[in-house]
Amino acid sequence: MSERELRVSKIKDGTVIDHITGGHALDVVKILGITGHEKKPITVAIHVPSKRLKTKDIVKIEGRELNPQEVHKIALLAPHATINIIRDYKVVKKQEVKLPSVIENIIKCVNPACISNSDEPVRAKFYLDSEEPLVLKCHYCGCIIEKKDVLEQF
Ligand code: CTP
Ligand code: ZN
Repeated sequence: MSERELRVSKIKDGTVIDHITGGHALDVVKILGITGHEKKPITVAIHVPSKRLKTKDIVKIEGRELNPQEVHKIALLAPHATINIIRDYKVVKKQEVKLPSVIENIIKCVNPACISNSDEPVRAKFYLDSEEPLVLKCHYCGCIIEKKDVLEQF
């Protein structure tokens, strides 16, 4: 690393979400319910140069690990993200996010008339047509859901 590059501190214990699609770090922050009132450090880097992607975002959270629902939500917006679990400064687990081919319960259908939005006990269910750009198809009404629709729900 040259001296002109910014070095963001390593964390001791917690989670580093790396390789987030450039520009989506604040959406990840929102998904994780981070309010700014947490007493532990949170680092957000936006549009930093990346070898793998053109630019990437990074979110580092001290003292917190993610649940599977949060990981799936992140995968919808940042399909190349890597979740690193850090313990005592070491990466003890590295997980590439992966969107399942069938997505249940994480998001709602955009069609107000869809049975999954009615009082019936029917859970929202989508098929993954494309990861990037994100295209999901509703199992019930065939409606197409895109990234902008997902962003509106988080
Ligand atoms: N990291 C951190 N604090 C630590 C250890 C790692 O903030 N105590 C961060 C690194 O800065 C990096 C990410 O966690 O952004 C993953 O660390 P590492 O696996 O060491 O980096 P790479 O090998 O570059 O990861 P990859 O192969 O996933 O790009
Ligand atoms: Zn539907």
